[in-house]
Amino acid sequence: MSVLQTGNGKILNLQLEVVGYVVGESKPYRADIIAFRPLAIGEYLYMEYYDYRALAMVGTSITGSPVITDDLTDPKDIERLIKTVRYGERMYYYRGSIKILGSIDGSSSKLYIPPIPPPPGTEVLKAPKSVLARVFSQDGRNYVRVGTLLRELDVEVRVNINKIVSRHLGILAMTGMGKSNLVALIAKKIAEIGGTTIIFDYHGEYSSMRLQNIVTNVVKPKINPLSLDLEGMSRLLNIPKNATRQRMALRECLENIGESDFFTKLKKCLQGRVGRYGTSAQKVLDSVTVYEGFLRRILDEKIEDVVNTIVLGAINIVDLSDIHLNQADAVVSYWLDRILEARKIGVWSRGSRGIPSPLTLVIEEAHAFIPADIETATKKSAESIVREGRKFGVGLIIVSQRPRGLDPTVLSQLGNLAVLRIVHPEDQQYVARHCEPITQDIVEELPGLNTGEAMLLGEWVSVPTIVKIDLVKEKLSGGDVDAVAHWNRLYSARTESLGM
Ligand SMILES: Nc1ncnc2c1ncn2[C@@H]1O[C@H](COP(=O)(O)OP(=O)(O)O)[C@@H](O)[C@H]1O
Ligand SMILES: [Mg+2]
Repeated sequence: MSVLQTGNGKILNLQLEVVGYVVGESKPYRADIIAFRPLAIGEYLYMEYYDYRALAMVGTSITGSPVITDDLTDPKDIERLIKTVRYGERMYYYRGSIKILGSIDGSSSKLYIPPIPPPPGTEVLKAPKSVLARVFSQDGRNYVRVGTLLRELDVEVRVNINKIVSRHLGILAMTGMGKSNLVALIAKKIAEIGGTTIIFDYHGEYSSMRLQNIVTNVVKPKINPLSLDLEGMSRLLNIPKNATRQRMALRECLENIGESDFFTKLKKCLQGRVGRYGTSAQKVLDSVTVYEGFLRRILDEKIEDVVNTIVLGAINIVDLSDIHLNQADAVVSYWLDRILEARKIGVWSRGSRGIPSPLTLVIEEAHAFIPADIETATKKSAESIVREGRKFGVGLIIVSQRPRGLDPTVLSQLGNLAVLRIVHPEDQQYVARHCEPITQDIVEELPGLNTGEAMLLGEWVSVPTIVKIDLVKEKLSGGDVDAVAHWNRLYSARTESLGM
């Protein structure tokens, strides 16, 4: 295929495949076409009409037959028809509707929807690589590669990584479709350009990732108990919100706790409050005793500020795999608050204090941490980041296999989306309702995606794009457990030891 750019900016196609023609009534943003061959969903097409040079994408694809119609009732008739239709004779027709993504303007990669629809009879061509590359493989330091166009595997897709930090990102799909792989890929790309990511790793699946020339910094989720407020401590001890007297006893003790021997002093103080608060103080004391072993895993009064444990320019992994969801909620929320606070100081002090540069935070299992139906500590903290993060360069990536469980306010604030396969109708409708860029026709395409295939929407791409995401080979775990392989190894070890 050779494509030349002529003087007036039009693309003179020498050998571009003519796919079909516009028929019937068209609109500026959509048209129906009749094609010479079956159309693939997501395939890119190109049309020139008036002064526009428009890129389009196949939205629906229909194959029908004028001969084998649905009023036939006897399969024998169909058998006879198939046999008698001579070779080469047209037995099928191919029609489809195409979405007009926009016209290409001068040398810019920006597309704009022409105000005039393509007239019937407009020739529809296969989109030239040069046009696709201009729209999807943008150069410049803001852009990083995440994969290739699903329907044109030799066209790179590059996304504007700056937009993730300024407008956040949601990665939504069923389990096993490639969400965590995309997280690993984005973290890797950010690290390659010197940026910082912090992943809250609920399943402990990122710690083993080893990337060449990239530092991965695995952090145990420790908090200094002296830096927790009453709310945070009550959460860890499972003290209900309405247990006012318990909270009062706890507050008095936290206020006078001193620098060392946190648990010993706390218990002693609560003991001393039994006189004043009766069973309430006793209940708190019981909680401390019951949870102590557990809490020692995440509370440590010798730990310095969590902000100091972040390595800038690295992939930081906060390993939450050993702790309970409630505790993880307290930890994540604490980190989010501290990071936002330290970034504000970083901005106001021009980098001399706090965190000096922007960063990206990733929350996996976001439906558990930022749920629609209940209040969690992380939800409050995430709301602040979604609201204020833009000003201070704190980007939030939320990842979920259960979008319908996500808080709608946070969901609707995400300026960028990567949606992989979703088949559950409730999830589909929920994202269509709360995520502005997801329309009904996009929803209908989601079940047709395979593992690693993502629809990218929002400001980080110039037009909605279906992408084959690059696989990060260095991230091994997280896939399904190969039970049979485990059993086989056990079986051979046993049979060998028995000399069988
Ligand atoms: N872009 C991709 N290309 C090829 N295979 C992929 C891709 N993304 C994921 N996979 C495969 O699917 C498995 C599950 O992916 P993962 O990212 O853990 O899914 P999720 O986080 O959505 O549950 C991976 O172990 C990998 O084998
Ligand atoms: Mg995952």
